[in-house]
Amino acid sequence: MTRKTSARDALLARREGFQEALLAWYRGCRRRLPWRESPSPYATVVSEFMLQQTQVATVLPYFARWMEALPDFAALAGAQEATVLRLWEGLGYYSRARNLHRLAREVAAGPLPSGAEGWRRLPGVGPYTAAAIASIAFGEASACVDGNVVRILSRLTRDATPYRDSASASKAFAPLAQELVNAAAPGDHNQAMMELGATVCFRRSPTCLVCPVRGHCGAATSGDPESYPRLDARKVEHRKVVRVWCERAGSVLLHKNAAGARRLAGLHELPTAEQAGMDPAQASKGRLVSRKSRGITRFRIEESIHLARPPRGRLGAGLVWIRVSDLGEISLSGPHRRWTAQVLADRGR
Ligand code: ADE
Repeated sequence: MTRKTSARDALLARREGFQEALLAWYRGCRRRLPWRESPSPYATVVSEFMLQQTQVATVLPYFARWMEALPDFAALAGAQEATVLRLWEGLGYYSRARNLHRLAREVAAGPLPSGAEGWRRLPGVGPYTAAAIASIAFGEASACVDGNVVRILSRLTRDATPYRDSASASKAFAPLAQELVNAAAPGDHNQAMMELGATVCFRRSPTCLVCPVRGHCGAATSGDPESYPRLDARKVEHRKVVRVWCERAGSVLLHKNAAGARRLAGLHELPTAEQAGMDPAQASKGRLVSRKSRGITRFRIEESIHLARPPRGRLGAGLVWIRVSDLGEISLSGPHRRWTAQVLADRGR
């Protein structure tokens, strides 16, 4: 028998003890988060959409504003897209907001699906979000599996399998996650796993001494938790983007993404050189007003913003002049809102 099989079997043999220790810890020590303390299917759906790829601390103020402005599925279904995007502005990954809006329009009229299968058919709902909603809001025993859960399970079982990426690791751990779900409290169980991943079982320097399930954990016992999971190192791809800053008579040139665009639909951004009809190499010779570097998924994107002469003739597709005094009224993606404010401040505007 391999070590992996025996550690897994040992964990499953003491499954109830594991579930009880995890649940007792969660109920006593969890962070008091608004979607946990006043739960409803709507609050669960909104919070789970916001928490995809975004940390709890970032989500908190957005969640509060959202629930105030759009308190239920009917209010969201009836809202204008511009209102929805404005409330989401700064959270990034805007397709989540548009999918949530479409989801509300689909469910507002009829009964809500209760099972993960039904939720999975709605826009923007993947297996993780479907399991989270079904378990937290409807008490269905469906396990959530994401990078946090993979990390916990691979440490519990000291699983030395090399995984190509986190998606294949999630797939491999799904059956074990499902066997471990506490059918008496699946929502709390799933949130306890999330909480353990976020507050104890860190990727680097996990705090095993205070872990409620350290007695069940092969890696904590062996003292090598950071060795798991075994994921191939991801290659970072570098991209360069040249953007232009054009100002004319109190207005700034922006690019508005098409309503049907895959990314950032309906949102304004500072135009790239190409969008403004300029050659990037030429545009990058203009005076540098700002340089930014940010990471999005596996990309490291270096963006530079250069002063440029306003384009002549008819504006290219999506380009719009926006009065500086009207910038507060339109949707800009989060980084572009900050850059615009910063460039205007630097230019004494
Ligand atoms: N991440 C995803 N869902 C979450 C939840 N319900 N609570 C905390 N973090 C989460």
